[in-house]
Amino acid sequence: MTELTVNGAPVTVASDGDTPLLTVLRDELGLVGSRFGCGQGLCGACFVNVDGTVMPACQTPLGQVAGQGVTTVEGLSRDGTPHPVQQAILDRQAAQCGFCISGIVVRAAALLAEEPDADADRVAEALDRNLCRCGAQRRIIGAVLAARDLT
Ligand code: FES
Ligand code: FES
Repeated sequence: MTELTVNGAPVTVASDGDTPLLTVLRDELGLVGSRFGCGQGLCGACFVNVDGTVMPACQTPLGQVAGQGVTTVEGLSRDGTPHPVQQAILDRQAAQCGFCISGIVVRAAALLAEEPDADADRVAEALDRNLCRCGAQRRIIGAVLAARDLT
């Protein structure tokens, strides 16, 4: 058994410590917002925030996050109110297929928490590891900047 905190709530999970965190989130906890893309830490679709550090859940063994706080895209909304990045992406219809969006929201939310005045170049740099096969990066960056201006 491994104890950790997920989206602010303490949980105890039965998966082995070497199980990828992404598998635990999706299959044991039912948090399917984090996506399985490359499975190799290269695409960003599975990004989660672990105590302030964004990391690929597909390449993070459960045992590595024991006792820590994991925030997934589901945990970014508050009392049903979307995070500003989520709301801006919705308002601007910035996503296309949406497969990449969960990881992008997690990364962008972390950036704006650390750097509330991040400019377009900084946003683009921060999202460099988040691949978007639909080519929606320009709209997504615009939405992140809109979210920045709301906060
Ligand atoms: S699925 Fe984890 S980085 Fe691609
Ligand atoms: S919106 Fe389709 S992969 Fe990004």
